Amino acid sequence: MARLAVMASGNGSNFEAIAEAVSESSHEIACLICDRAKAYAFERAKKLGIKAYYVSYLNRKREEAEEEIISILRSEKADLTALAGFMRLLSPKMVDAFPDRIINIHPSLLPKYPGTEGIKDSFKSKDMKLGITIHRVDYGLDTGPIIMQKSFSRSGDESLDEIEEKIHRLEHQNYPAVLLELLDQKI
Ligand code: GRF
Repeated sequence: MARLAVMASGNGSNFEAIAEAVSESSHEIACLICDRAKAYAFERAKKLGIKAYYVSYLNRKREEAEEEIISILRSEKADLTALAGFMRLLSPKMVDAFPDRIINIHPSLLPKYPGTEGIKDSFKSKDMKLGITIHRVDYGLDTGPIIMQKSFSRSGDESLDEIEEKIHRLEHQNYPAVLLELLDQKI
């Protein structure tokens, strides 16, 4: 059994998909950590009976907030941490605290369209193949070593909402499976 912590900032649909898959495995969700007090992910954690922590970044240095996160991850004995819509760049100090143990999902085929507008930027592009990337976290913005990419062909007629839905479906199908494999390797 290995323990997975999830960090999110908003809606938390990936968090929920991950939590459901983990609950059917031999592994455990250690906790959810959110940097926004009003994140809908908190409602999902409540419904799923998962311990959730709010770590504020307001009026404090990033490093200070991260110290709190690092001590939560240590006290919860997380073997692996999944960023699932966590909208902040981690400092090198935090990345180095958990070498190769922080994973991220990004809604584009990296290295194309890093940053916060991955879906919109993909949609606005002329690319006929769009998709998702699951990667290890390094110091850069969506730059770490890639673990998996999944793509689909767009027809060109889809709206932004339809593209967004396709991307989220791919995320929910693939992120939990990749994380379960990585948790298996931690045993
Ligand atoms: C996802 O598209 C993920 O790729 C990106 O942020 C979004 C989070 O969605 N990093 P949700 O909060 O899991 O619904």
